Amino acid sequence: MAADIPATPSLLRGPLAALQDTLSRHYRRLGALSRMLRFRVAASDSWMDRQAHRARPDRVLGIQIDGDVRAVLELYGLGDGHAEIGLSVEDAYQNRGLGRTLFRAGLRAAREMGVETADLFFSQSNTAIMKIVSEVGAEIRDQQGDRWASIRLL
Ligand SMILES: CC(C)(COP(=O)(O)OP(=O)(O)OC[C@H]1O[C@@H](n2cnc3c(N)ncnc32)[C@H](O)[C@@H]1OP(=O)(O)O)[C@@H](O)C(=O)NCCC(=O)NCCS
Repeated sequence: MAADIPATPSLLRGPLAALQDTLSRHYRRLGALSRMLRFRVAASDSWMDRQAHRARPDRVLGIQIDGDVRAVLELYGLGDGHAEIGLSVEDAYQNRGLGRTLFRAGLRAAREMGVETADLFFSQSNTAIMKIVSEVGAEIRDQQGDRWASIRLL
């Protein structure tokens, strides 16, 4: 593995339309496998655009490198103290520590929102995210080829 990239995640602010444009650019730079792992469908560019412009995340955190946002975490409050997390790192920047750094920053942001339990769905083949969530003590359940991780924040 190459050396980790030092990175500071930040909360992305601005109008929803601008955040959705950022999501769209990021999603479109994901390779086929990353798209499948993130969205669990073989997503075309136009599918990604529609997904980005439908998204209404409560918080978006990003890591800027080389002039654009290369890693994105979305937090969706589901009410009742629950939130769902989705995250992705562009292929050229994966396996350099960004996913772990961003995920931990996402949990801090969720805690600040008053979230008690953060959930994340992922494929059973997704070794990297399994490692990242296991390190923070997630409860893991298998669900028909997918996995569900639940992290208590309080
Ligand atoms: C999952 C994902 C966010 C991880 O981000 P990342 O920056 O690549 O991961 P990190 O570099 O922080 O690595 C975390 C751990 O996973 C391991 N890892 C990373 N990529 C791996 C791979 N392809 N296979 C096996 N292990 C891997 C790393 O070795 C590291 O463990 P270590 O520090 O003990 O060596 C990223 O791979 C990604 O965007 N994947 C596509 C979208 C996705 O799967 N999203 C999650 C579901 S919503």
